[in-house]
Amino acid sequence: MTRKYLLIGACAVVAVAAYITLSPVPVDDAAQSAPVEGDAMVAIQMPPIEGNAAIGQRIFDTACAACHGSNAVGVEGAGPPLIHIIYEPSHHADESFQRAVAMGVRSHHWQFGDMPPVEGLTRGDVAMVIDYIREIQRANGIN
Ligand code: HEC
Repeated sequence: MTRKYLLIGACAVVAVAAYITLSPVPVDDAAQSAPVEGDAMVAIQMPPIEGNAAIGQRIFDTACAACHGSNAVGVEGAGPPLIHIIYEPSHHADESFQRAVAMGVRSHHWQFGDMPPVEGLTRGDVAMVIDYIREIQRANGIN
């Protein structure tokens, strides 16, 4: 009697072990491609940045990069890339950059929330930031 139960028990152990070793481990594709907070959102080519665009770059680094990423590649969880077809000159002309900085932006293209106005920049400062962004856009076929 006890031997019979032992046998059944042994079979059960073998069956469970076989199940564990043979069952396929699920591959979590989503986890591999899921966005990681703080990561860049687009890959870009960087052109040489000179003149006013270089001044614009310095302004951008202090006033915009926290949300838009260095070289405007976006920041997962913070803000969108400006090196993006959405922001090509025919859809977002230079004046829309001036307006974004002066008055902020109500969220409409992305899920990051609103952009607050950025204080302390003149229109001239923003023009140089635009020079900088347009240089990178052009180098990436956005024009
Ligand atoms: C606190 C975060 C933050 C900062 C700082 C910030 N932005 Fe933004 N910006 C955003 C977000 C978020 C959006 C996207 C809103 C949407 O469309 O969903 C945006 C959108 C924009 C747009 C698109 C405007 C439009 O009409 O759709 C421009 C241009 C822009 N930002 C330029 C700048 C510049 C230039 C600076 C620095 C002077 C800057 N941003 C600083 C968060 C920020």
